[in-house]
Amino acid sequence: MTERIVLDCDPGHDDALAMILAAGDPRVELLAVTTCAGNQTLPKVTRNALAVCAVAGIEVPVAAGAVGPLVRPQMVAPEIHGESGLDGPVLPEATLELDPRHAVDVIIDVVMAAEPGTVTLVPTGPLTNIALAMRKEPAIVERVKRVVLMGGSYTRGNKTPTAEFNIAADPEAASAVFSAPWPVTMVGLDLTHQATADADVVARIEAIGSPLSSFVVDVLEFFGSTYREQQGFTDGPPVHDLCCVAWLCDPEVFTTQEAFVAVELTGTWTNGMTVTDFAGLFGRPNNTDVAITLDKPRLWDMTVDAIASLSARTEGAVR
Ligand code: RIB
Ligand code: CA
Repeated sequence: MTERIVLDCDPGHDDALAMILAAGDPRVELLAVTTCAGNQTLPKVTRNALAVCAVAGIEVPVAAGAVGPLVRPQMVAPEIHGESGLDGPVLPEATLELDPRHAVDVIIDVVMAAEPGTVTLVPTGPLTNIALAMRKEPAIVERVKRVVLMGGSYTRGNKTPTAEFNIAADPEAASAVFSAPWPVTMVGLDLTHQATADADVVARIEAIGSPLSSFVVDVLEFFGSTYREQQGFTDGPPVHDLCCVAWLCDPEVFTTQEAFVAVELTGTWTNGMTVTDFAGLFGRPNNTDVAITLDKPRLWDMTVDAIASLSARTEGAVR
């Protein structure tokens, strides 16, 4: 069955790969792309989303959302994604007009117009838009099929020793999402650090020989350089956000384990931590399916296929 999704993102090199897989794999129907401030400011990540649409031939509503987190000061990640948020490739001019609606309204409109239980939200940036949508239209909580989010960690963080960037950027929004009574899959760093784009993967993508594949190679080469310099990843960058879409294409791509997850909001040293209780130690019911072990060949096989498929559809697309 085709998974119908709204991708809420902050492109972002790995968000770009998530967009491409969502558009190129027939097992997922990409209904809309919404952006929120995260890796870079809202104007930059929105421009980047439109550029990815142009090079990949993606024609869906694209709407800009939250300019920053609900409460905390804004944080961006130029040390990983560069000043543009998508440094490395030449970014093509947008071919789509930005949807005039706010991202929150696009999320609400898509969910409320669809049959209950048929739309999955896939946030791969801070959860600000999702939290705002829940507050503006609470009915989406019972209508959304599942939230499959990239964020969190049940071991170590990457923004602080205990907090992953997407959660740390807006912990109040994340707390609202994990606390709501909808199914949540947490694709955290424990899983996504297994999803490295090594030299063999890059070579397979380069061999496709299209403008899109060259764009993706440039994306991965920059992303790989910053992850090597900043975090010591010598086997290629962890393409975090791609894993969320891959699971919706093929649930065999990683295993999950149920847990109770809560977001720390008042810790002196642990703000933004996704406290993950696999053992019922808090006596709270499990609220999250936590991603554990990745089938890496399966991830990259479907991703290479999606790039090849989109390349065939977008002959002559500009870089
Ligand atoms: O911590 C990694 C996450 O933060 C990814 O989604 C990346 O794109 C950034 O948003
Ligand atoms: Ca992201």
